Amino acid sequence: MIKAAITGIGAWAPEDIITNEDIAKLVDTSDEWIMSRVGIKERRVLKGEGRGTSVMGIKAVEELLSKTGTKPEEIEVVIFATTTPDYAFPSTASIVAEGVGIKNAFCFDLQGACSGFIFALETGSNFIRSGSYKKVIVLGGDKMTAITDYEDRTTCALFGDTAGAVLLEPTTEDLGIKDAILHTDGVGIPHLHMKGGGSAYPASKETVEKKMHYVYQEGQAVFKHAVSKMADVSAEIMERNHLTNEDVAWFVPHQANLRIIDAAAKRMGLSSDKVMINIQKYGNSSAGTIPTCLHEWESKLKKGDNIILAAFGAGFTWGSIYLKWGYDPK
Ligand code: UT7
Repeated sequence: MIKAAITGIGAWAPEDIITNEDIAKLVDTSDEWIMSRVGIKERRVLKGEGRGTSVMGIKAVEELLSKTGTKPEEIEVVIFATTTPDYAFPSTASIVAEGVGIKNAFCFDLQGACSGFIFALETGSNFIRSGSYKKVIVLGGDKMTAITDYEDRTTCALFGDTAGAVLLEPTTEDLGIKDAILHTDGVGIPHLHMKGGGSAYPASKETVEKKMHYVYQEGQAVFKHAVSKMADVSAEIMERNHLTNEDVAWFVPHQANLRIIDAAAKRMGLSSDKVMINIQKYGNSSAGTIPTCLHEWESKLKKGDNIILAAFGAGFTWGSIYLKWGYDPK
């Protein structure tokens, strides 16, 4: 049976940093509150007029193509998971493809909020498993600072900007994406959304004045669901695949809150040295968090390592993926 293996990764984060001290100059908060409640020290911000999420996606894919020795014309599908597309249309995937010279692929965006990367990874894997495609790029990335209200202390410390990209290729070895448990439940719609800018409330003077173009989040309600759902689904995928905590080499959780990550790792019985955590440096970059972690840890990942990815986000959306890493460090 054909499986989809990750055969390379690229990622990019902008250099500009917003520290907790910077945030504390804008709203009534402190480094102590943000570190103890969320675990974020600083986050990246993509600056410059007209620079959208595609800027980060292009850098990630350039690195990916160069590291894997892949020519742009070999790529057949590009899927970009993002909540902060450059434009309503065309897709950010098509802007990335144009930016790196991909001309023989069909390209589209996928909206799964903070679970976008794992939704896109399962989608991309199925193109490979179908036997019809041999080189698929899956990106996850967000410019969350573009939809963050820096006058709202309940959300402005949380978010940052990053993007990452993986290459999926077919393999007949026991590698690649092995299992996925993915969910959506509209019970979350009132608790986490952006009110304006879509077709329900197109941008107008009024939507801008009412601050409808920013993340709206009822933190506690989201937190409660995130803790239980992300832990449940991560434990479930281990059980379903008969994996013990010894078998799991790495847990790669979405980086929204250190307390949510710790709860999931505890439920899985994993020691902290097996959990990828970089929330302190990047905050929550939505669909960008998981590929950004995999990229940072790439030199430690060995061919065949059992890796569990897990995410939770708006919708609500959530889920986990079990994969075997596709290659040894170069
Ligand atoms: O990635 C997609 C999914 N999103 C998530 O997973 C996020 C889930 N939610 C969370 O991570 C947490 O709910 C937050 C980090 C957003 C908030 O943490 P919390 O422990 O749930 O705080 P809270 O909302 O219950 O607020 C506790 C107190 C409140 O004051 P009172 O009412 O107790 O006096 C808030 O007004 O903390 C106050 N507060 C702050 N204080 C200082 C809220 N934000 C801040 C702040 N600085 N930035």
